[in-house]
Amino acid sequence: MHDPALLRSMHRARFHAEPAVFVAPGRVNLIGEHTDYAEGFVMPAAIDFATLAAISLRSDGKFVLYSENFGEERAFDAALPPAPSKHWTDYPLGVVSILAGEGHKIPGFSLTLWGDVPLGSGLSSSASVEVASALAMLSLLGASYPGPVLARLCQRVENEFVGANCGVMDQFISANGKKDHALLLDCRDLSFRLAPIPSHLALVIANTMVKHSIAGGDYPTRRRESEAACAVIASHRPGVPFLRDATLEDLDKWGYEMAPKSLMRARHVISENLRTVAAAEALLKGDLAELGRLMAEAHKSYSIDFEGSCTEADLMVELAQDIPGLIGARLTGGGFGGCTINLVEQAQASPFAAELGRRYADRTSIVPEIHICHASDGARQLE
Ligand code: GLA
Repeated sequence: MHDPALLRSMHRARFHAEPAVFVAPGRVNLIGEHTDYAEGFVMPAAIDFATLAAISLRSDGKFVLYSENFGEERAFDAALPPAPSKHWTDYPLGVVSILAGEGHKIPGFSLTLWGDVPLGSGLSSSASVEVASALAMLSLLGASYPGPVLARLCQRVENEFVGANCGVMDQFISANGKKDHALLLDCRDLSFRLAPIPSHLALVIANTMVKHSIAGGDYPTRRRESEAACAVIASHRPGVPFLRDATLEDLDKWGYEMAPKSLMRARHVISENLRTVAAAEALLKGDLAELGRLMAEAHKSYSIDFEGSCTEADLMVELAQDIPGLIGARLTGGGFGGCTINLVEQAQASPFAAELGRRYADRTSIVPEIHICHASDGARQLE
């Protein structure tokens, strides 16, 4: 995470005001991919990459947004309803818009954003910007929301303002993560269970350097295909509004009525829900061999049935298999590029990361970024 004291002084120098400072982390998902919008289960952890937000009031009726990452400042009239423009400012402006819809009148402010979550890498940089911005803006009103409610509001920023049809996982873990824990989340009612990650394990995140975007075509296409399968099941069993409620037997019975791709997508989502719950049990029991096996199965299902991987991510997972210290590896996040998560024995994490990076660079001529991370706390104010 970047230095909050430095952010504070940058904000002071630019805006001549003392800011309040907030942090919201990115995330890595251990297992449970494309299950959140099917009201299923996911098991992410917040990571030690985060977005910092510094905020102070203004008296000229403007929202002035500055991103240290983009080195860019933009000003907006606080009296006008914000509109999206496919720009980084959409995330904080979307928060303004959703909070306004909830009846909050946000006063003019200066906001400095500074993050180290790699962009477009499947580590939820946008969710961390939304959650940090929301906490910052709410603080101006002396308001706050419980973490799960905050997560839903920030998901709506994506769905209703940015135009990305994502589920609730990323915003939820950014708002509610806990240090040294993964979180098994039921995306239906947002109940969750924390599972400690033993201290001898590291989360090694390997970036394929292939950019992913969930606003692009593949994510919504996959979502539509899986929902089409659900509609076929629901035509026979009306109690199945989401794939969360479907079983593999439903696919045996009615799969022939589905487009072949829809059947494959549904097989991934239904089996992934089962694996995710089993993985949480394995982690809670300390059965790391079983957890690793489930991660491997999850990757196969993501790659083959969901067709959500890419050559580079498949290679990154394959190259990790016989490196000492590995417990499990799979592609994490929205797919079609981004990062793999490798659960690795802490004592072997550094040589593991070096060897994986070397092998990947040899095979692809791409130098990957590999980070040794640990589960961190969710969003909060920094003193
Ligand atoms: C992205 C979305 C999430 C989730 C994952 C896939 O990260 O933002 O809501 O759907 O992809 O599991």
